[in-house]
Amino acid sequence: MRALWIVITTFGCVLIAANAESCKGCVPLDSFSFDKVIPKFKAVVVKFDVAFPYGDKHDEFRKIAADTKDSQDLLVAEVGVKDFGNKDNSDLAQKYDINKDDYPAIRLFVQGRSEPYKFVAEKDEDFTADNIKRFIRSHSGVYLGLPGCVEQLDRLAKEYQSANESERKKILERAKIFEDTLSEEQRTAAKVYVKLMERIMERGDVFVQTEQTRLEGLLKGKLSNDKKRVMEERRNILQSFTSRDEL
Ligand SMILES: *[C@@H]1O[C@H](CO)[C@@H](O)[C@H](O)[C@H]1NC(C)=O
Repeated sequence: MRALWIVITTFGCVLIAANAESCKGCVPLDSFSFDKVIPKFKAVVVKFDVAFPYGDKHDEFRKIAADTKDSQDLLVAEVGVKDFGNKDNSDLAQKYDINKDDYPAIRLFVQGRSEPYKFVAEKDEDFTADNIKRFIRSHSGVYLGLPGCVEQLDRLAKEYQSANESERKKILERAKIFEDTLSEEQRTAAKVYVKLMERIMERGDVFVQTEQTRLEGLLKGKLSNDKKRVMEERRNILQSFTSRDEL
């Protein structure tokens, strides 16, 4: 449980002390700075929230900022909205059609596109850093290492997807060679990439969709935590084979 203390000093000032709430790596944006900053980045993920956010969802968002600190193409930002007093930033919330009940609301702004993408969590437990990262990646094409993914293999997967048959064979060979250079843990991931490439070669591009449906189905069922993690990682890898243009 996170606490929010409001201390009224003898001078009548109100100090709000927040416990581990600051979002390291998040850039606070407001009505004046928003339109200056947003177009400068390939992708900006924004959390619209109350002015002093805390709690599980805020913590998930903080994870995204930490996990993506090395990504030059993605900016993680937050807009604190006050629905009272001076109504700070409520104009921004209104502009993007965000109500008080929607907080925290996630929007993804992609360069060259005027309307943001909206992240939808069906259940509270779907509001996770991993799901939001997956959402960012699928709509923006910005590389964010999702759990289980290997950057170089993700690049090969993208190449594979747009290649013709003879090129695909070469890419598959490159993936296999690359696999041998990896650490034990990454090699397990590499095997998944290689296997997927082989399956797609056998069954055609439709396999990606079929496999996605199958994994989503399995993930809805009862699974041990270990098994669940494996399936989720597999789904993440599979996503590297889907084009963002299709989404
Ligand atoms: C596949 O693409 C490569 C590179 O664009 C090209 O050189 C080759 O002729 C193509 N092969 C076929 C079978 O279309």
